[in-house]
Amino acid sequence: MRIVVLTGAGISAESGVPVFRGSDGLWEGHRVEDVATPEGFARDPQQVHAFYNGRRAKLTGGAVEPNDAHRALAKLAAAPGVELFLVTQNIDDLHERAGSGEVLHMHGELLKARCQSCGAVVPWREDLSRASVCPACGEIDCLRPHVVWFGEMPFGLDETAAAISRADLFVSIGTSGRVYPAAAFVSWAREAGVPGLEINLDESDGSSLFTESRRGRAGELVPRWVDEVLAGRKDQG
Ligand code: OAD
Repeated sequence: MRIVVLTGAGISAESGVPVFRGSDGLWEGHRVEDVATPEGFARDPQQVHAFYNGRRAKLTGGAVEPNDAHRALAKLAAAPGVELFLVTQNIDDLHERAGSGEVLHMHGELLKARCQSCGAVVPWREDLSRASVCPACGEIDCLRPHVVWFGEMPFGLDETAAAISRADLFVSIGTSGRVYPAAAFVSWAREAGVPGLEINLDESDGSSLFTESRRGRAGELVPRWVDEVLAGRKDQG
Protein backbone atom coordinates (compact mmCIF):
# COMPACT_ATOMS: atom_id res chain seq x y z
CA MET A 1 0.00 0.00 0.00
CA ARG A 2 1.41 3.36 -1.02
CA ILE A 3 0.56 6.22 1.32
CA VAL A 4 1.56 9.87 1.08
CA VAL A 5 1.34 11.77 4.37
CA LEU A 6 1.58 15.57 4.56
CA THR A 7 2.09 17.05 8.02
CA GLY A 8 1.85 20.62 9.29
CA ALA A 9 2.31 22.55 12.50
CA GLY A 10 -0.67 20.82 14.14
CA ILE A 11 1.24 17.53 14.47
CA SER A 12 3.91 19.24 16.58
CA ALA A 13 1.50 21.36 18.66
CA GLU A 14 1.22 18.71 21.39
CA SER A 15 5.03 18.63 21.54
CA GLY A 16 5.03 22.29 22.54
CA VAL A 17 5.88 23.86 19.18
CA PRO A 18 3.38 26.67 18.59
CA VAL A 19 1.27 26.66 15.38
CA PHE A 20 1.60 29.64 13.03
CA ARG A 21 -1.83 31.09 12.69
CA GLY A 22 -2.85 32.63 15.98
CA SER A 23 -6.02 34.70 16.05
CA ASP A 24 -3.95 37.91 15.77
CA GLY A 25 -2.40 36.81 12.46
CA LEU A 26 1.11 37.28 13.84
CA TRP A 27 3.93 34.78 14.28
CA GLU A 28 4.80 34.98 17.93
CA GLY A 29 4.30 38.73 17.75
CA HIS A 30 6.16 39.23 14.45
CA ARG A 31 4.83 40.21 11.04
CA VAL A 32 5.40 37.44 8.48
CA GLU A 33 6.94 39.96 6.06
CA ASP A 34 9.58 40.85 8.65
CA VAL A 35 10.76 37.37 9.59
CA ALA A 36 9.79 35.01 6.78
CA THR A 37 10.65 36.71 3.49
CA PRO A 38 13.98 37.24 1.66
CA GLU A 39 13.20 40.99 1.73
CA GLY A 40 12.79 40.93 5.52
CA PHE A 41 16.15 39.18 5.86
CA ALA A 42 17.87 41.68 3.53
CA ARG A 43 16.37 44.57 5.55
CA ASP A 44 17.21 43.30 9.02
CA PRO A 45 19.20 40.03 9.11
CA GLN A 46 19.80 40.30 12.85
CA GLN A 47 16.06 40.38 13.61
CA VAL A 48 15.46 37.34 11.39
CA HIS A 49 18.39 35.48 12.97
CA ALA A 50 17.04 36.31 16.45
CA PHE A 51 13.59 34.95 15.52
CA TYR A 52 14.95 31.62 14.24
CA ASN A 53 17.59 31.43 17.01
CA GLY A 54 14.74 31.52 19.52
CA ARG A 55 12.85 28.74 17.75
CA ARG A 56 16.02 26.66 17.32
CA ALA A 57 16.91 27.03 21.01
CA LYS A 58 13.44 25.77 21.98
CA LEU A 59 13.91 22.74 19.75
CA THR A 60 17.32 21.84 21.12
CA GLY A 61 16.65 22.88 24.73
CA GLY A 62 15.21 19.55 25.85
CA ALA A 63 11.62 20.66 26.44
CA VAL A 64 10.32 19.69 22.98
CA GLU A 65 9.91 15.96 22.32
CA PRO A 66 8.12 13.95 19.61
CA ASN A 67 4.58 12.87 20.48
CA ASP A 68 2.45 9.80 19.76
CA ALA A 69 1.50 11.07 16.30
CA HIS A 70 5.15 11.33 15.18
CA ARG A 71 5.83 7.89 16.66
CA ALA A 72 2.81 6.32 14.95
CA LEU A 73 4.01 7.53 11.54
CA ALA A 74 7.46 6.04 12.17
CA LYS A 75 5.74 2.75 13.04
CA LEU A 76 3.68 2.95 9.84
CA ALA A 77 6.80 3.52 7.72
CA ALA A 78 8.43 0.42 9.20
CA ALA A 79 5.42 -1.87 8.62
CA PRO A 80 5.76 -4.59 5.97
CA GLY A 81 3.80 -3.89 2.80
CA VAL A 82 3.56 -0.16 3.47
CA GLU A 83 5.40 2.34 1.31
CA LEU A 84 5.19 5.69 3.09
CA PHE A 85 6.16 9.00 1.50
CA LEU A 86 6.30 11.51 4.37
CA VAL A 87 6.40 15.17 3.42
CA THR A 88 6.26 17.86 6.09
CA GLN A 89 5.86 21.62 6.13
CA ASN A 90 7.49 21.60 9.55
CA ILE A 91 11.05 22.73 10.05
CA ASP A 92 11.46 20.87 13.36
CA ASP A 93 13.18 17.47 13.59
CA LEU A 94 10.45 15.65 15.51
CA HIS A 95 9.63 13.12 12.78
CA GLU A 96 13.30 12.10 12.66
CA ARG A 97 13.59 11.95 16.44
CA ALA A 98 10.52 9.69 16.52
CA GLY A 99 12.31 7.29 14.17
CA SER A 100 11.14 8.29 10.70
CA GLY A 101 14.08 7.74 8.38
CA GLU A 102 13.05 9.48 5.21
CA VAL A 103 11.32 12.83 5.61
CA LEU A 104 10.98 15.46 2.91
CA HIS A 105 11.13 18.87 4.59
CA MET A 106 9.48 20.96 1.89
CA HIS A 107 9.96 24.19 3.91
CA GLY A 108 13.50 23.39 5.02
CA GLU A 109 15.03 22.54 8.38
CA LEU A 110 15.68 24.70 11.42
CA LEU A 111 18.74 22.66 12.39
CA LYS A 112 20.55 23.45 9.14
CA ALA A 113 22.15 26.62 7.80
CA ARG A 114 22.76 27.52 4.18
CA CYS A 115 25.67 29.54 2.83
CA GLN A 116 24.61 32.24 0.42
CA SER A 117 28.17 32.46 -0.83
CA CYS A 118 29.09 28.83 -1.66
CA GLY A 119 25.66 27.16 -1.42
CA ALA A 120 26.68 24.59 1.22
CA VAL A 121 23.93 23.29 3.50
CA VAL A 122 25.37 22.42 6.92
CA PRO A 123 24.02 21.06 10.23
CA TRP A 124 23.55 23.95 12.68
CA ARG A 125 22.40 23.74 16.32
CA GLU A 126 23.79 27.03 17.70
CA ASP A 127 22.66 30.62 17.25
CA LEU A 128 23.27 32.16 13.83
CA SER A 129 24.46 35.74 13.40
CA ARG A 130 26.13 37.92 10.80
CA ALA A 131 29.44 36.92 12.41
CA SER A 132 28.86 33.17 11.89
CA VAL A 133 31.49 31.55 9.69
CA CYS A 134 30.56 29.13 6.91
CA PRO A 135 32.32 25.84 7.72
CA ALA A 136 32.57 25.05 4.00
CA CYS A 137 34.06 28.24 2.52
CA GLY A 138 35.18 30.23 5.58
CA GLU A 139 33.21 33.39 4.65
CA ILE A 140 31.42 35.44 7.30
CA ASP A 141 28.02 37.16 7.05
CA CYS A 142 26.77 34.65 4.50
CA LEU A 143 24.83 32.03 6.46
CA ARG A 144 21.04 32.02 6.59
CA PRO A 145 18.56 29.59 8.13
CA HIS A 146 17.92 26.68 5.73
CA VAL A 147 14.21 27.43 5.65
CA VAL A 148 11.89 28.35 2.81
CA TRP A 149 10.48 31.85 3.05
CA PHE A 150 7.45 33.34 1.32
CA GLY A 151 8.31 34.00 -2.30
CA GLU A 152 10.78 31.09 -2.41
CA MET A 153 10.27 27.67 -3.98
CA PRO A 154 9.61 24.76 -1.58
CA PHE A 155 11.81 21.68 -1.90
CA GLY A 156 10.87 18.40 -3.59
CA LEU A 157 7.68 19.35 -5.40
CA ASP A 158 8.28 17.11 -8.45
CA GLU A 159 9.05 14.15 -6.20
CA THR A 160 5.91 14.82 -4.15
CA ALA A 161 3.70 15.17 -7.21
CA ALA A 162 4.99 11.84 -8.53
CA ALA A 163 4.43 10.11 -5.16
CA ILE A 164 0.86 11.46 -4.92
CA SER A 165 0.00 10.40 -8.46
CA ARG A 166 0.84 6.76 -7.74
CA ALA A 167 -0.48 6.63 -4.15
CA ASP A 168 -3.38 4.55 -2.83
CA LEU A 169 -4.12 7.15 -0.16
CA PHE A 170 -3.24 10.78 0.61
CA VAL A 171 -3.37 11.87 4.27
CA SER A 172 -3.08 15.42 5.58
CA ILE A 173 -2.36 15.92 9.28
CA GLY A 174 -2.42 19.15 11.29
CA THR A 175 -2.37 21.77 8.58
CA SER A 176 -4.69 24.73 8.00
CA GLY A 177 -4.48 24.44 4.21
CA ARG A 178 -3.66 28.13 3.93
CA VAL A 179 -0.22 27.91 2.33
CA TYR A 180 0.39 26.78 -1.25
CA PRO A 181 1.60 24.58 -2.83
CA ALA A 182 1.05 22.18 0.12
CA ALA A 183 -2.59 23.25 0.24
CA ALA A 184 -3.01 21.99 -3.33
CA PHE A 185 -1.77 18.44 -2.66
CA VAL A 186 -5.31 17.27 -1.90
CA SER A 187 -6.43 18.57 -5.31
CA TRP A 188 -3.51 16.80 -6.98
CA ALA A 189 -4.69 13.61 -5.26
CA ARG A 190 -8.30 14.10 -6.37
CA GLU A 191 -7.21 14.66 -9.96
CA ALA A 192 -5.29 11.38 -9.82
CA GLY A 193 -8.27 9.56 -8.30
CA VAL A 194 -6.44 9.08 -4.98
CA PRO A 195 -8.72 9.22 -1.89
CA GLY A 196 -7.87 11.83 0.75
CA LEU A 197 -8.07 11.65 4.54
CA GLU A 198 -7.72 14.73 6.72
CA ILE A 199 -6.85 14.62 10.42
CA ASN A 200 -7.04 18.08 11.98
CA LEU A 201 -8.26 19.80 15.12
CA ASP A 202 -10.36 22.35 13.26
CA GLU A 203 -11.94 22.50 9.86
CA SER A 204 -9.28 23.56 7.33
CA ASP A 205 -9.58 25.59 4.15
CA GLY A 206 -9.47 22.38 2.11
CA SER A 207 -11.65 20.13 4.29
CA SER A 208 -14.38 19.75 1.66
CA LEU A 209 -11.89 18.31 -0.84
CA PHE A 210 -11.08 15.27 1.30
CA THR A 211 -12.94 11.97 1.03
CA GLU A 212 -12.97 11.83 4.84
CA SER A 213 -12.21 14.35 7.58
CA ARG A 214 -11.53 13.44 11.19
CA ARG A 215 -11.55 16.18 13.82
CA GLY A 216 -9.41 15.99 16.92
CA ARG A 217 -5.90 15.92 18.34
CA ALA A 218 -3.21 14.36 16.17
CA GLY A 219 -1.68 12.65 19.23
CA GLU A 220 -4.85 10.65 19.63
CA LEU A 221 -6.21 10.27 16.08
CA VAL A 222 -3.00 9.46 14.19
CA PRO A 223 -2.09 6.37 16.29
CA ARG A 224 -5.71 5.20 15.97
CA TRP A 225 -5.64 5.61 12.18
CA VAL A 226 -2.24 3.86 11.89
CA ASP A 227 -3.58 0.92 13.92
CA GLU A 228 -6.56 0.72 11.52
CA VAL A 229 -4.22 0.62 8.51
CA LEU A 230 -2.00 -2.02 10.07
CA ALA A 231 -5.01 -4.15 11.14
CA GLY A 232 -6.33 -3.91 7.56
CA ARG A 233 -2.99 -5.13 6.19
CA LYS A 234 -3.03 -8.09 8.57
CA ASP A 235 -6.58 -8.97 7.50
CA GLN A 236 -5.46 -8.96 3.87
CA GLY A 237 -2.33 -10.92 4.44
P1 OAD B 1 -1.07 26.48 10.73
O1 OAD B 1 -0.68 27.14 12.00
O2 OAD B 1 -1.56 27.34 9.62
O3 OAD B 1 -2.23 25.42 11.02
C1 OAD B 1 -2.12 24.46 12.01
C2 OAD B 1 -3.35 23.56 11.95
O4 OAD B 1 -3.17 22.55 12.92
C3 OAD B 1 -4.67 24.28 12.27
O5 OAD B 1 -5.63 23.98 11.26
C4 OAD B 1 -5.11 23.67 13.62
O6 OAD B 1 -6.50 23.45 13.70
C5 OAD B 1 -4.38 22.34 13.61
N1 OAD B 1 -4.03 21.83 14.95
C6 OAD B 1 -3.62 22.50 16.05
N2 OAD B 1 -3.35 21.69 17.07
C7 OAD B 1 -3.57 20.43 16.61
C8 OAD B 1 -3.48 19.13 17.19
N3 OAD B 1 -3.08 18.95 18.46
N4 OAD B 1 -3.81 18.06 16.42
C9 OAD B 1 -4.21 18.22 15.15
N5 OAD B 1 -4.33 19.42 14.55
C10 OAD B 1 -4.01 20.52 15.26
O7 OAD B 1 0.17 25.57 10.29
P2 OAD B 1 0.52 24.95 8.86
O8 OAD B 1 -0.71 24.59 8.11
O9 OAD B 1 1.54 23.89 9.08
O10 OAD B 1 5.40 28.03 6.07
O11 OAD B 1 1.21 26.18 8.17
C11 OAD B 1 1.72 26.02 6.89
C12 OAD B 1 2.88 26.92 6.65
O12 OAD B 1 2.54 28.25 7.02
C13 OAD B 1 4.11 26.66 7.51
O13 OAD B 1 4.89 25.58 7.06
C14 OAD B 1 4.85 27.94 7.39
C15 OAD B 1 3.71 28.90 7.57
O14 OAD B 1 3.78 30.06 6.91
C16 OAD B 1 6.53 28.70 5.86
O15 OAD B 1 7.19 29.17 6.75
C17 OAD B 1 6.94 28.78 4.42
